[in-house]
Amino acid sequence: MAEAFIKGVIRREAWPGDGLCVVNRGSGQRLEELQEHYGIVPSQWSVAAAARLVVVAVKPFDMAQALAQLSPWLHGQPVLSFAAGVSLAWMREQIVGKSPVIRTMPNIPVAVLAGAVALTFEAGVPETDRDLVRYLLGRLGEVVEVQEELMDAATAFSGSGPGFVSYFLEAMEEAAVELGFTPEMARELLLQTVVGTALTLREWGISPQELRRRVSSPGGTTEAGVRVLKAGDLSGLVHRALQAAAARSTEMGQSYTPTESP
Ligand SMILES: NC(=O)c1ccc[n+]([C@@H]2O[C@H](COP(=O)([O-])OP(=O)(O)OC[C@H]3O[C@@H](n4cnc5c(N)ncnc54)[C@H](OP(=O)(O)O)[C@@H]3O)[C@@H](O)[C@H]2O)c1
Repeated sequence: MAEAFIKGVIRREAWPGDGLCVVNRGSGQRLEELQEHYGIVPSQWSVAAAARLVVVAVKPFDMAQALAQLSPWLHGQPVLSFAAGVSLAWMREQIVGKSPVIRTMPNIPVAVLAGAVALTFEAGVPETDRDLVRYLLGRLGEVVEVQEELMDAATAFSGSGPGFVSYFLEAMEEAAVELGFTPEMARELLLQTVVGTALTLREWGISPQELRRRVSSPGGTTEAGVRVLKAGDLSGLVHRALQAAAARSTEMGQSYTPTESP
């Protein structure tokens, strides 16, 4: 996710590569590769002392260690976390309130500048810091600011969304091959159908329900297919899948509740 962020920010010329200092846990070779590809500067945590923004893109279970290493270098510069389920209050506790904390849930299409990004700020983040984060994340896709209570839902919806959509597309592709298409033809038609549907919805400003209505002639092919999807309760299945994903996100986040009130 860190590389996706770096790639997007540089591709959009939102920040120069040599203004991005990158720290990882152990692999010098990985940092060298990033330096070669993006011109970033391999660094140590101490570089955070002079940073305009610190982005922490480690796995949730590595957050405690990373924040402990970062904390001595904090003196008010904003800290942006990508970690699923890790609350603002818990992060604040780890860094003993030395800097404002910000939480985001990007999704994997940020790598191709088509991300859906949920964002939440703790109270008191200065407006200039908010604008900087909005600007950088806005280079990578569509940013929606939400209350922190909605971050688990965002993790389930837009964070896991590419996985859910891909699962539906897997079935579409398999079914297309069964109907006689080669895998290559099926993939091409599939991708164009999905991208085209999303673009049409956006450009025409209509709901998915309305688009479905417009392409369903009475007694036609779409109607015949949708009848089967309804009989299998696709809608109920999707609701249950999102609820399960959101519940899992909440469960994972329970290890990151602060010991004291913020
Ligand atoms: N993948 C997604 O689709 C997605 C979507 C939304 C949000 N996220 C969030 O993004 C975060 C990163 O996920 P990922 O899949 O990109 O993980 P990843 O590939 O494992 O990358 C994590 C990086 O963190 C570094 N790291 C770990 N502990 C460190 C420490 N103490 N000090 C310095 N560097 C440290 C690791 O360094 P080494 O390279 O040396 O091991 C590694 O480069 C997670 O919190 C995840 O919840 C991911």
